[in-house]
Amino acid sequence: MALAVSETLSLARTTRRRQIWSVGGGKGGIGKSLITASLGWQLARMGQRVVLVDADLGGANLHTCLGLPTPERTLTDFIQRRVDTIEEALAETGAPGLRLLSGAGDLLTAANIKHMQKVRILKKLRSLDVDVVLIDIGAGTSFNSLDFFLLSDVAILAAVPEPSSIENGYRFIKSALYRRLRTATQSPWVRDMVDLATDPKNDQGLRTPVDLVSRVEREDLEAGAAMRREMSSFRPRFVVNEVRDDRDVVVGHHLVAACRRHLGLRASYTGYVHFEDAVWRAVRRRRLFITDAPTSRAAEDIRQLTRDLLKGESLGLGY
Ligand SMILES: Nc1ncnc2c1ncn2[C@@H]1O[C@H](COP(=O)(O)OP(=O)(O)OP(=O)(O)O)[C@@H](O)[C@H]1O
Ligand SMILES: [Mg+2]
Repeated sequence: MALAVSETLSLARTTRRRQIWSVGGGKGGIGKSLITASLGWQLARMGQRVVLVDADLGGANLHTCLGLPTPERTLTDFIQRRVDTIEEALAETGAPGLRLLSGAGDLLTAANIKHMQKVRILKKLRSLDVDVVLIDIGAGTSFNSLDFFLLSDVAILAAVPEPSSIENGYRFIKSALYRRLRTATQSPWVRDMVDLATDPKNDQGLRTPVDLVSRVEREDLEAGAAMRREMSSFRPRFVVNEVRDDRDVVVGHHLVAACRRHLGLRASYTGYVHFEDAVWRAVRRRRLFITDAPTSRAAEDIRQLTRDLLKGESLGLGY
């Protein structure tokens, strides 16, 4: 007997896995927060229960992207144990199914949270009763940013079609990969080799992670195979923002090709978002462009991105 729609949906919900998605980029001002906020909004619109997390602790502004005042409770309240559970630090956004864990108003020290605090935060985020936790990890390649990115099920790297952004994006992925390779091994020798490879002027001719793995393999087949497994399970997804023409669109393909050739990674190109006046105009009005200008190309791009990401992750919606 065929299942009723409500039964199918509830079945999908119970079998669906809670996921952590993150948006990074290495560089500031390239649209990470706008992409995070609008992806989150669209996911919620499509029936997902979403928590947005502003992990850009030094310069949190996700609430402003959503047109909200500074939330009373923030991630700092949780870090400093002023609230008992992470749920108590969540703010409603006004959109059904979409809540926010703000990083706003944080002390400077919060930008340098310790490893154990980070582990505690991620553990709590994973235990939230939602479908997707979507993290804006901010700019830069600090260990905090890299770890949030590496621990995500869906790791999105935003870039704009400008040389400095492309360079920073590539460097972010490379740093994340080295960190992943280093933390995955117990062998002091392999750790030393990773440290050596991260020095761009090392005297062993190790210029890329591909060089590093070949070198480790020569000495220790098993350690080399473990490194290859780590590399194959790291699948960053590129999103190119502020696209103006076809030449801008292909930037994502170039990034994927560079990751394959130099980093030995199977990255993918999820899609792009057009540059549009409607986007920055909405920002000035403290509104999200996807609600302020729903018929704009940028809004349609976000809807397409969301569908593709959901399809890729098979969250049970059948897209
Ligand atoms: N697709 C777009 N079209 C037009 N303008 C855009 C677009 N994307 C971003 N912008 C402009 O770029 C500005 C920066 O965006 P956003 O705050 O999301 O960047 P960010 O990467 O989060 O920056 P930061 O690193 O400082 O947190 C926006 O306020 C907006 O004016
Ligand atoms: Mg931002």
